Amino acid sequence: MMILYAVLKVLHLLFAVLWVGGMFFAYFVLRPSMSAIDPPQRMLLHTRVFRRFFLVVWHAMPIMLITGFVMLYLLGGMSAVPWPIHAMAGLGVVMSLVFLAIVLGPYRRFRRTTDRTRMTASLDTIRKLIAVNLVLGLITVVVAALFHVV
Ligand code: HEM
Repeated sequence: MMILYAVLKVLHLLFAVLWVGGMFFAYFVLRPSMSAIDPPQRMLLHTRVFRRFFLVVWHAMPIMLITGFVMLYLLGGMSAVPWPIHAMAGLGVVMSLVFLAIVLGPYRRFRRTTDRTRMTASLDTIRKLIAVNLVLGLITVVVAALFHVV
């Protein structure tokens, strides 16, 4: 049981780092650097970057949810754990819903159009929703760190 728990926790932490760290990189490093290239190339780069990053999140999201809820079960369920785990579960579910909203909403519109104005508008929405998820992800990490403290 201890080994199973350790494997779950390692996967949980690794994919949290990839997801939240990836969003931090996209927002604070990649986006401000985009102005170095011309707008048409910028669109192409966005297309490639989103395809790869969203593929990572398509794996990270279910792994976070599954490992998190299995650990929760092994710990004895909701009533056996303190509030930081409740908060993490809630925030994790909201982050997953925001990710689905990005993929099914502005990202779908971004891929289905060649109109530059529409692409820019979709990009703007994607950027805002990623900022929302980044803030939620950082809060989740802070809350998670309180688990063994409170
Ligand atoms: C997607 C957003 C999430 C992030 C960024 C995240 C992050 C983390 C981090 C950094 C830890 C380590 C804390 C520690 O060991 O003291 C942790 C532990 C844990 N997480 Fe999450 N988590 C997320 C979602 C979830 C979900 C949806 C659940 C489901 C209930 C969950 C359940 C747990 C449990 C039970 C632990 C305790 C592991 C232990 O210390 O024994 N997490 N999480």
